[in-house]
Amino acid sequence: MHGTENPAARAALDVAWVREQFPSLKLHVNGQPAAFLDGPAGTQVPRQVMDAVQNYYLTANANTCGAFETSRRNDAMIAAARAAMADFFNCAPDEVVFGQNMTTITFALARSIGRELRPGDEIIVTTLDHDGNVAPWRALEENGVGIRQVDIRQQDCTLDLDDLKRKITPRTKLVAVGYASNMVGTINPVAEITRLAHAAGALMFIDAVHYAPHGPIDVQALDTDFLVCSPYKFFGPHMGALYGKPEHLRRFKPYKVRPACDTPPDRWETGTQMQELIAGVEAAVNYIAELGRRCDPGVGSRREALLAAYAATVPHERALLTRLLDGLRAIPAAKVFGITDPARFHERCSTISLRIGEHHPTEIARFLGDRGLFTWDGNFYALSLSERLGLEEKGGVLRIGLVHYNTAGEVDRLLAALHEFAAR
Ligand SMILES: Cc1ncc(COP(=O)(O)O)c(C=O)c1O
Repeated sequence: MHGTENPAARAALDVAWVREQFPSLKLHVNGQPAAFLDGPAGTQVPRQVMDAVQNYYLTANANTCGAFETSRRNDAMIAAARAAMADFFNCAPDEVVFGQNMTTITFALARSIGRELRPGDEIIVTTLDHDGNVAPWRALEENGVGIRQVDIRQQDCTLDLDDLKRKITPRTKLVAVGYASNMVGTINPVAEITRLAHAAGALMFIDAVHYAPHGPIDVQALDTDFLVCSPYKFFGPHMGALYGKPEHLRRFKPYKVRPACDTPPDRWETGTQMQELIAGVEAAVNYIAELGRRCDPGVGSRREALLAAYAATVPHERALLTRLLDGLRAIPAAKVFGITDPARFHERCSTISLRIGEHHPTEIARFLGDRGLFTWDGNFYALSLSERLGLEEKGGVLRIGLVHYNTAGEVDRLLAALHEFAAR
């Protein structure tokens, strides 16, 4: 069974309970409660994650595969964390690879895949992507691999699928696309793009770093070859995690030391891992599942609980997004990039980028920061997009990231401060 069949019977998100789980949300700055609108750069963590990291040090701090108790506990913890991420991705535990962060994982994988590519082979990247899903593939140009970059439709910052279709050819060996843009929030049709890649005989690599806190990931439904995300963007510690189809994790050859285990997924995890943080990853997934069980006590498995959590957080985030965009319409100098039509909100997540007149985004971020409103300014490493929109020379944009622990009250405070800024 998949939990409560009637969606109306599910409980709405209990934001008060959510916020109780995150101790740092109680911080004050300059006498104001801190409003964390910086989630796309890294979310806050619930108490469960902090406890898991501490508990690791207290009870299981040892290296792997030793013939003594703390080492066995460490091995059991890693296995449990892999099982948690497997539920998160909807795959098997040995299809989950842990690593330092998305960028490091992607450079390592790209280098390994690059060993098998020949001059004339091509890889597709996009203008919408974070450079973590561009530079590792572009590095293969040194081996003669051709890189083709798919453009965007400038008016709504969505991927130009016609351009993508033109650029996918029999020479294409891999298509690297983001699930969602970390600058403008666009959600890409990654299932459709995976079909196009496979029809051309190419592999599909999805960067789900930005999408992961905003929607459920199902690697089986997507049929992607690889997918990567970073737990620190979905309420966990600073780490990365990769899903790979087992045949690829076996076939491609990682750069590794000789004595290290050569079976997947371990062969991809170079050196000693950040084990205390892996403990935190399991706790982050369990936190989301706990949230799901509160929203729908009828769910069975952890996977179902995760889906129930997103079924509650997505409408909450969309309501905040609607409130923010409605409020921004009342600030004439504010220009929002990306999709603004409520009828198309399913094509975007709750990450907004904007400019106010010719004001430098750092100036706005500082004004807000002084008032306890934490936002980001710049290009957030979505370099090609910032260049394509002609913003790179102007300081990029102001980014407001809304996640499930944010509130309507925080959005209203932000809007009031932006009004005040614009009226100066
Ligand atoms: C969409 C996207 N991809 C990749 C990255 C890089 O992730 P990491 O910091 O784990 O290397 C980020 C980080 O902001 C991101 O937002």
